[in-house]
Amino acid sequence: MNPYFNDPHGIGTREDPHAQARKARDQPLLLHSLSLFREVFAEVFAQREISTVVEIGVESGRVSGMYAELGASAVHCVEPQPTDELRANLDGAELHLVEGTSPAVLDEIPVGDLYVIDGDHNYATLGKELDWILTHAPDAVVVFHDLLWPCSRRDQYYQPSGLTAEETHPAGEDGPTVWHDDTTPAGFVGRGAFTAAREAGGERNGTLTAVEDALDRHADDPWELTVVPAVFGLGVMARRSSPGAAALLEALRPYSTSTLLEAMENNRIALYTRVLQMQYEAVAHADAADRLAMAVSAQNAELDGLRNELDEAHARYDEQVHRSLEEKRALELEIAELRERSPARVLKDVLRTVLLWPRRKWNSYEGRG
Ligand SMILES: C[S@@+](CC[C@H](N)C(=O)[O-])C[C@H]1O[C@@H](n2cnc3c(N)ncnc32)[C@H](O)[C@@H]1O
Repeated sequence: MNPYFNDPHGIGTREDPHAQARKARDQPLLLHSLSLFREVFAEVFAQREISTVVEIGVESGRVSGMYAELGASAVHCVEPQPTDELRANLDGAELHLVEGTSPAVLDEIPVGDLYVIDGDHNYATLGKELDWILTHAPDAVVVFHDLLWPCSRRDQYYQPSGLTAEETHPAGEDGPTVWHDDTTPAGFVGRGAFTAAREAGGERNGTLTAVEDALDRHADDPWELTVVPAVFGLGVMARRSSPGAAALLEALRPYSTSTLLEAMENNRIALYTRVLQMQYEAVAHADAADRLAMAVSAQNAELDGLRNELDEAHARYDEQVHRSLEEKRALELEIAELRERSPARVLKDVLRTVLLWPRRKWNSYEGRG
């Protein structure tokens, strides 16, 4: 028996020891797609007659084809903002794009055997979607994504949100992290796509709270919920008295009761939010380093300017000194010339000659001249 029956080639061999690492790095760093739950959906299709699927919140449309592959004859894909990628991915005859917002569009499309809800992850929207489905499709199976952290007890609001102020909690761009209880820009943020409620918990807050309250509202004909604790939590719900409900929930028990899955999910969100925090800090450090580099270069430019000013002042000073010396020299020459030509000087010289003449004469008589 092959012990690696999932993917014998993916595990690697002695000749190809890097196969598993290759497979790991081919995955996105944050796993979030419903396609990862294929084996759980396979159980749903195995236990129930599923012909019509209503998929709420389709994003890229890469999962929609999976429902057709598992046996659905029609998949109605509800997405308010379909991208070109989504339109291209919905190329099968079974796949029908419904451009609109749930729950408003639910009246306009055929009732489903399976509802896959992965749209706007908040109490108000999910509550209304559930009230519609539990009333109009009592024999459907309902699958929800994001019943665990971060949306279980904290609303998210896709933007632009059509919800009223009374239906929402104060929310912002910051996101949750598992490392403390407040939202933070270093957390699980929506980057403009969605906002998160600032406070978690309390009434009318979060997806799991919405499901619990909907179950209470429809308690007269009870529905049963089970949660697979992986990839943000997958809820599966069926009316207890609907055909095959007990068998379906029993078939999912290995997933929903797995403490291994639960531990791995908790570890995954802890690691991922630590990565988010480190990325945020790295960007903040890079920004700080950029700001520092800009300040240093501005100060260097200022220093260069001051150095130029100093050089110019030195040059002006040298020129001034040079000019002053030349002027001094010219004045001295002028004075010397004036002295040469001065009548007083001439008179003084004549007088000195006249007055000194007798002494010279006498000296010459004495034989000393
Ligand atoms: C988490 S993504 C869906 C991911 C997809 N199910 C998958 O597994 O790959 C959520 C999507 O729901 C859409 N959405 C938001 N509010 C919605 C609403 N009220 N009705 C339907 N879709 C909605 C968003 O535009 C977004 O594409």
